[in-house]
Amino acid sequence: MKKINIALDGHAGGGKSTTAKILAKKLAYIYVDSGAMYRAITLFVIENDVDLNNTEAVENALRSIEIDFKLNEQNQHNDVFLNGKNVEDKIRKMEVTARVSEVSAIKEVREFLVKKQQEIGLKKGVVMDGRDIGTVVFPEAELKVFMTASIEARAQRRLMEMKAKGQEVNLEEIKQNLESRDHQDSTRKESPLRKAEDAIDIDTSDLTIEEQVEKILNLALQIIN
Ligand code: DC
Repeated sequence: MKKINIALDGHAGGGKSTTAKILAKKLAYIYVDSGAMYRAITLFVIENDVDLNNTEAVENALRSIEIDFKLNEQNQHNDVFLNGKNVEDKIRKMEVTARVSEVSAIKEVREFLVKKQQEIGLKKGVVMDGRDIGTVVFPEAELKVFMTASIEARAQRRLMEMKAKGQEVNLEEIKQNLESRDHQDSTRKESPLRKAEDAIDIDTSDLTIEEQVEKILNLALQIIN
């Protein structure tokens, strides 16, 4: 059967990763969380106190960063590894979330990750979610979806996710972080978040995860068949 690449873009907290994970499983495709890669670099920057205003320091840091995804046998999802260490939990913490937009606005960081992401996509059969997948990483993707949702819906979902992981956060803090990341991600100079011209819009504010997946799966199957 023909394999395609699926690009899922949209604002923070729009349910992209949950949707992408289930979709990939249903199609027996590889799921790649590109945001996790930006988060892993952000963790490295924090832990090693990298000076983001110093391009040489950023380039040196990137040379010593190895990012991989490995299957977590317990939940059957791919966890992100930074230099051989599983950092899946650490990269979801507020300290990382608060700085990831700043790190992902850096040209060298984007070039480094886009190259890796494009290599993963060469064999097709990839569902990748992020901000620039349909515009920069896979401009030729057979299916591009741009997911939107109201700020209220997104903040509520993020709150439930973080609470389920035992993290202490409040709704207002999450809302502020989402709004500030939306602003930074959409206004940065290097490949800002925007909808690819040929992407299909899906507003998920009033959709369940199952409904979201169903919609995109149907679109994918039409192309595959
Ligand atoms: O998807 P996420 O919320 O985990 O992504 C974290 C941050 O990484 C997001 O605020 C912006 C950045 N990002 C990006 O610039 N490009 C991508 N393709 C994915 C994420």
